[in-house]
Amino acid sequence: MATGAIDEASNMKVILKHYVSGSPQETDMHLTAGTIKLKASAGSNAVVVKNLFLSCDPYMIFKMMKLERHYSDPYTPGSPITGYGVAKVLDSAHPDFKKDDLVWGLTGWEEYSLITETNHMFKIRHTDVPLSFYAGILGMPGMTAYIGFYELCSPQKGEYVFVSAACGAVGQLVGQFAKLQGCYVVGSAGSNEKVDLLKNKFGFDEAFNYKEEPDFTATLKRLFPEGIDIYFDNVGGKMLDAVLLNLRVRARIAVCGMISQYNLEQPEGVHNLTSIVMKQARMQGYLVFEYYHLYPKYLEMILPKIREEKVVYVEDIADGLENAPAALVGLFSGRNIGKQVVAVNCL
Ligand SMILES: NC(=O)c1ccc[n+]([C@@H]2O[C@H](COP(=O)([O-])OP(=O)(O)OC[C@H]3O[C@@H](n4cnc5c(N)ncnc54)[C@H](OP(=O)(O)O)[C@@H]3O)[C@@H](O)[C@H]2O)c1
Repeated sequence: MATGAIDEASNMKVILKHYVSGSPQETDMHLTAGTIKLKASAGSNAVVVKNLFLSCDPYMIFKMMKLERHYSDPYTPGSPITGYGVAKVLDSAHPDFKKDDLVWGLTGWEEYSLITETNHMFKIRHTDVPLSFYAGILGMPGMTAYIGFYELCSPQKGEYVFVSAACGAVGQLVGQFAKLQGCYVVGSAGSNEKVDLLKNKFGFDEAFNYKEEPDFTATLKRLFPEGIDIYFDNVGGKMLDAVLLNLRVRARIAVCGMISQYNLEQPEGVHNLTSIVMKQARMQGYLVFEYYHLYPKYLEMILPKIREEKVVYVEDIADGLENAPAALVGLFSGRNIGKQVVAVNCL
């Protein structure tokens, strides 16, 4: 909303109050009103955007903590938090972006942002699909599923695939990619409603509620009598240990994330790593932004599948910045059903 001065707008922001240890809480953040100049200084290479959708992502917990060794800097208490989002350019001093362009990439958790680092900003060229998809299937989480499954695991028809946190932003896609590849796929999730979605919406062959399974090793043995060829790990911890005991020869594990460990003061140990030797298995971690050069290739693959409804995508959209802190912390209790997004502004 424009204020008295020309080119200035009022700007609600989500501020980190203090560094967090353990599970993040809504009260670790607060909303505050400010103002922003809607002009990018000439020669600055900056862009000013109106944020449309913000993406809630598990990695943001690391930036809320004061960690010594991490791949990106922590947030600054007292400043707006940042994350992936979908936005419209209002003004640009950058040669690659112009007014009214739609973009996805790193932005601020506020109504409007001045973006000075445009390395991870992509122009949106296809608008026949929902714009919010660029916070999920057509953005960072989509690329994460694609890279982890295809580039790291080289799936073959008929292989046995297991996906944890399978109903989330990344997991729901990995399961569908596995089915498109002709694999048998099982997913785990934290509620019966999610299990139902996995089997009846995303087409997983089997799914289970890990909160109701007392012995993961036995559950996996029952669902994979022949063993697991590919494990797409989103959770780490006890589930990873159980997978290690159920591997097939030359299995591949894509270590995408370990959300079960993120807010533990003392991470659980992994006990069954000897299986990696015995099964001649490969376990590989990755960071999606190292693969962004493959984004055009991914778009070429995924856009027709969305248009032809060969891949579906479930989003959980919270309405308004005031609901953003609850949406973000909800990731760590499994409150989200599908990709958690926050709708901030209309186009
Ligand atoms: N490597 C990369 O570059 C990269 C990029 C993006 C994401 N990731 C990782 O990918 C994973 C999935 O991310 P996402 O964006 O798709 O999130 P998401 O699955 O949409 O949301 C997180 C889900 O994790 C599950 N969860 C939370 N606490 C858990 C626990 N203690 N044990 C087991 N499950 C738990 C919850 O589902 P339930 O109800 O099923 O418990 C929750 O809904 C995360 O580990 C994330 O860090 C990695």
